This record gives sequence, structure tokens and C-alpha cells, in this order.
Amino acid sequence: MNNEYQKSKLLFVDDEAENLLTFKLNLEDDFNILVTTSPKEALTMLANDKSIAMMFVDQVMPEMTGMELAIEAKKVNPDATMVMLTGNATKQLAIESVRSKVFWEFLEKPVDFASPHMKQMIFSGIQEALLQKTNRDYREGAIQLVANLIDDKDGHTHKHSRRVQEWSLKLAKKFNLSDHEMMLVRQGALLHDIGKISIPDDILKKPGRLSALERKIIMTHPGRGGDILDSIPQLAELAPMARYHHERYDGKGYPLGLKGDEIPLLSYIVALADFYEALSSKRPYKDPWSVGEIVKEILSQKDKQFPGRLVDAMMEVIVEEGLFSHEQVQEKEREIKAA
Ligand SMILES: [Fe+2]
Ligand SMILES: [Fe+2]
Repeated sequence: MNNEYQKSKLLFVDDEAENLLTFKLNLEDDFNILVTTSPKEALTMLANDKSIAMMFVDQVMPEMTGMELAIEAKKVNPDATMVMLTGNATKQLAIESVRSKVFWEFLEKPVDFASPHMKQMIFSGIQEALLQKTNRDYREGAIQLVANLIDDKDGHTHKHSRRVQEWSLKLAKKFNLSDHEMMLVRQGALLHDIGKISIPDDILKKPGRLSALERKIIMTHPGRGGDILDSIPQLAELAPMARYHHERYDGKGYPLGLKGDEIPLLSYIVALADFYEALSSKRPYKDPWSVGEIVKEILSQKDKQFPGRLVDAMMEVIVEEGLFSHEQVQEKEREIKAA
């Protein structure tokens, strides 16, 4: 048994304490066993202990069903292997548990946990969880690597991709997104400028003003980025964030001149985070703008460059971050109206 296996824990959730004792007695010689009669406590345990590799849930419990618990548990720890363990296995329940896609195995009580077959199954379940985690780590690592290459290539934008990611996530939290969408924002924001890989260095790193042709070449980066990501099936869902991050709500953006709802929400989120990051950073041709100037600029882009609800959400984030007060934002709004 290697180290990862030895560290892995199994969590049993059953409202009958007697059942939990039986699981423990049968398996504790070979595995690290955690037990609880409370689904809510199970969620807390999963959140706090990432070494829980497998969770066995009873279906009928007072607080919530095993199915509901497993669906919530996957949000807390998407890598853990879920096993349904029930005394009343109806055909309906079996169908639902397959459809929910959260269960790896479905077992009918009574289960003989002392049997070699069952131990073998648990080993496979742990292996499955470790494999899921390894896949996730590889993907995140590969995306981070590419983001570093993009930032290195674009000489004047120190850690731009990382900061756009930070602001995109803060903004995304305002929109009630699913975990999957949050994951897309996290990865898509990091890769939004991937198309810059195709722009020649002497244009990208040119210290002075760009010619009209050079500007046109730079403006190919969103489309190029979208194409690069679309060409890889595992990354295609990230493509719209690269392709549309210079589009505008009023249709005056590029490369396609899309407008309004034609631009997806996640693309708007990355676009606004990118805009904020560009204004707040030092570039060869400009100093960082003050928060007041940035707030005023973003507010004045309401329903022009960005939809109003995005601008409002950004103001909430800026206030929550303690960069500017709510009253100061209102003051800027008045200044814009008066102008
Ligand atoms: Fe860009
Ligand atoms: Fe950017």
C-alpha cells in the first residue's frame, strides 16, 4: 500500500449508530474509518478533511436523503467517490442514483464488509478518487503553466492573467454561478489572452505608439485565442472568454462587434476584470489610475462597454474590498450625471 492509500479515509453516514459500528468493526483493520449519523456533520467533515476519499451514504435519513447529501458532498469535494448503501433499493432509486451521476456504486443492505470482494471494491473506490484528483491537478497545472507563458511573453503586463483571474472570481461570486461555471471562470480568466502567443514579440513588446497595422495585428488576439481553445475539446468551454473579452455591450467592440446578450455572462465578467486590471496597472505608456478615476471610468461605461448589472456588481466588489466607500461611488455617479 502506498502513502496516498494509507492517508485516504472512508466516511460512513447512516442514521442508525448500530450500522456504523458494524462498518467500523469490519473495516478498521485495513482502512481509516470516520462515521457520523448526521449528514450535515458529514458535509463539514468533507470540507475540512481532504483526505476523505470515499463516502458511503444511507438513503433514508431524517435530515436529508443520501442522494441529496451526495450531491452536496460533490460540491464540497468533487473527487471523493460516492457509494449509496440502502435497505430499500427500489428500481426508482437505482435509476435516480444513476441519473444523478454522483454515485460510483450502489449497494443493497445487508452488505458483508468483511468479504474480500468488498475490500477490493473499496480499494478501487479509493483509486478512483485519487485518479480524479490527479486529473484535476494536471489540468490546473497545465493551465497555470500556459498562463505564465502568456504573461512572460507580454513583457509589460506583469502577472496580468493572475490578477484578471482574481478580479473575475470576485465579480463572478455576485452572479450565483454553479460550481462548474466558477471553475470555468477560474480557468478561462487565466487563459483569456492566450491568443497573444501568436502576436510577434516586436509588436507586443514595442515600447512606443503602435501603428494602425500593428494595432490591427494585436486586435487579432481574442479571435486567435478562441480558435486555440476551441481546437482542444477539453478546453473548448473556455473559448468564449478568450474570444469575446474585447467585445462591448453596445456592439462597438472587436473582433465580431457582438452586442447585448449575444455576449455570454462569463465573457463579460472576464472583460470587466481585464478592463479593471489594465486601468489599475502600470504600463509603459501610462501610470496606474487612482481608484476614483477607475470607478468613474467604469461607471461611465454603464450600458456602453458593459451591461449595467455588471457595473453594479463591480461597484459592490470595489466597496467590499475596501478600496472605495459606497458614498464615494454615489459621488462619482453624481459627477457623471452633472457632466
Ligand atoms: Fe486581451
Ligand atoms: Fe487581458
